[in-house]
Amino acid sequence: MKAVFITEQGGVDNMIYGEVPFPKVTDNSVLIKNHVSGINYIDTYHRSGVYPVPLPFIIGKEGAGEIVEVGKNVTDFKVGDRVVHFGSGTYAEYTAADVSAVEKLADDVSYEQAAAIGIQALTAWTMVRDGYPVKKGDTILVHAAAGGVGLLLCQMLKHLGATVIATVSTDEKAQLAKKNGADYVINYSCEDVVKRVNEITEGLGCHAVLDGVGKDTWDTSLACTRRLGTLISFGNASGVVPPISIGCLAQKNVKLMRPMLFNYLATREESKKWWGEVFELLRKKVLNLHVHKFYKLEDAKQSHLDLQGRKTTGKLLIKF
Ligand SMILES: NC(=O)c1ccc[n+]([C@@H]2O[C@H](COP(=O)([O-])OP(=O)(O)OC[C@H]3O[C@@H](n4cnc5c(N)ncnc54)[C@H](OP(=O)(O)O)[C@@H]3O)[C@@H](O)[C@H]2O)c1
Repeated sequence: MKAVFITEQGGVDNMIYGEVPFPKVTDNSVLIKNHVSGINYIDTYHRSGVYPVPLPFIIGKEGAGEIVEVGKNVTDFKVGDRVVHFGSGTYAEYTAADVSAVEKLADDVSYEQAAAIGIQALTAWTMVRDGYPVKKGDTILVHAAAGGVGLLLCQMLKHLGATVIATVSTDEKAQLAKKNGADYVINYSCEDVVKRVNEITEGLGCHAVLDGVGKDTWDTSLACTRRLGTLISFGNASGVVPPISIGCLAQKNVKLMRPMLFNYLATREESKKWWGEVFELLRKKVLNLHVHKFYKLEDAKQSHLDLQGRKTTGKLLIKF
């Protein structure tokens, strides 16, 4: 089958589009023919070496498609089921996924919708429900608000009754963040974020700061978190946050969290709960999906260049 894989971590030129062996179905896994796969920032970390992976490695963590084979212990799924999955190796025509990482799709959810909400919506929703349970009236700062996770965060926070302060790098992204629920937008490529946040919050800062940018925004994020507030650092788009001295949290009794989505989905029950809630948000139209572009599998390299080049908004998908 065709896939995009690496034999060595590094730049986009290490991404190889070519033939790979068909994945093997184990007793507890299912084989899925992918119709749409999601592109996520984590794919760039796997490719570049920010996160270690076993080599050779087929890139991609999420896909939506139909089951074409089931392992002998599998009872919950059958051939023909339409599913979304977080199996490893989804930049590929077929993926073998452990059943714990597979969720059935209702008839009214398309493959495009499932792959577009997937990792990004679950990351956003777990953050605002568990990481910091957002309450009506809270003021929340969201960095990279026009990105995949960012736009979904804006929509969810609006739905929960929060005041949303968003940061973005261009005027076009600012407009998009506003359209998706941001009350205030700060262009962090030319404005002083801490000053603006202090003006907006009358010097109090934000109840929570949701930071997927990482290295470049760490100091700003800490400065914008109010006393007793929560700082969630959930990604490394600009690089990994350097080690911190824990005492920096004491100045305002800040709670710091560094979540990883897959630790919210460790059991079947957890997975069903979070997926169920996110599907409900989609059904209620709280989530309005914004797909930046559908890429061909052979153009996956370009998708990484676009994503890391800050040229995209919303979700990037591979269509087979
Ligand atoms: N912890 C988890 O489980 C989890 C799960 C999913 C995603 N994430 C994290 O969430 C973040 C967002 O992921 P996403 O897939 O939705 O990506 P994305 O937000 O669509 O893309 C990243 C955005 O980050 C901003 N950015 C700021 N500085 C950057 C830099 N130096 N280089 C590149 N981008 C920069 C850019 O927006 P501007 O141009 O507006 O600055 C860019 O569009 C990532 O850090 C990702 O790792 C974490």
